[in-house]
Amino acid sequence: MPRLTTPAITPGTQRDLTQPVLDADGLRLRPWHVDDAAVVVTAYEDSDIRRWHTRSMNLDEATAWVTSWAGRWHGETGAGWALVRDGAVVGQISLRSLDHGDGRSDISYWVLPQARGRGTATAALTAVSTWAFETLGLHRIEVDHSVDNPASCRVATRAGFRLEGTKRGDALHADGWHDMHLHARVAGDVS
Ligand SMILES: CC(C)(COP(=O)(O)OP(=O)(O)OC[C@H]1O[C@@H](n2cnc3c(N)ncnc32)[C@H](O)[C@@H]1OP(=O)(O)O)[C@@H](O)C(=O)NCCC(=O)NCCS
Repeated sequence: MPRLTTPAITPGTQRDLTQPVLDADGLRLRPWHVDDAAVVVTAYEDSDIRRWHTRSMNLDEATAWVTSWAGRWHGETGAGWALVRDGAVVGQISLRSLDHGDGRSDISYWVLPQARGRGTATAALTAVSTWAFETLGLHRIEVDHSVDNPASCRVATRAGFRLEGTKRGDALHADGWHDMHLHARVAGDVS
């Protein structure tokens, strides 16, 4: 069925861009390399990352995951960055459900335990959302997190993602259904 709206982002816009390297406060956001897979495996040994991202990760799965991002970029369905501090990968951030027609995505992030508490996730979320609104042309980005995850709530709030409400029983975790906070930034928001 034909759409009655003009796509928020012209098809091909993302494909025609080179994925940028973004720098923020000593943090570098860069595209994934295949040899980053081992650090992704290490990340999923952390109980908080496993808990909130509801999966485990072996080396084959991590290799498939890091190498998937180039295709997702060219297919205009996602965009993922490794977070690098002092030359080492310390985390990830990804627009994981890009919809160019509606100009929206949700976003996911984690930071290795030893790198937490230095503003890494907040800086990464701010940098990616600024790029996504100003260069890609997204209209809305959502963060959702369990109400039992106050660190993620703080990151979203500090990066200007307003709390819009609580989705009851919205996400199945290993210990059952969790109520989820929905945060969002809309293009033009003043944080
Ligand atoms: C959530 C996470 C990404 C935060 O990464 P980070 O780089 O440490 O975050 P930042 O340093 O940018 O900011 C952390 C903020 O959260 C606060 N915070 C950290 N742990 C907290 C906790 N347990 N309870 C409440 N606030 C907490 C910090 O105080 C800081 O806020 P402040 O600057 O106002 O003091 C990291 O803890 C993580 O990877 N957790 C496991 C995976 C996860 O939860 N991913 C998100 C799923 S939605």
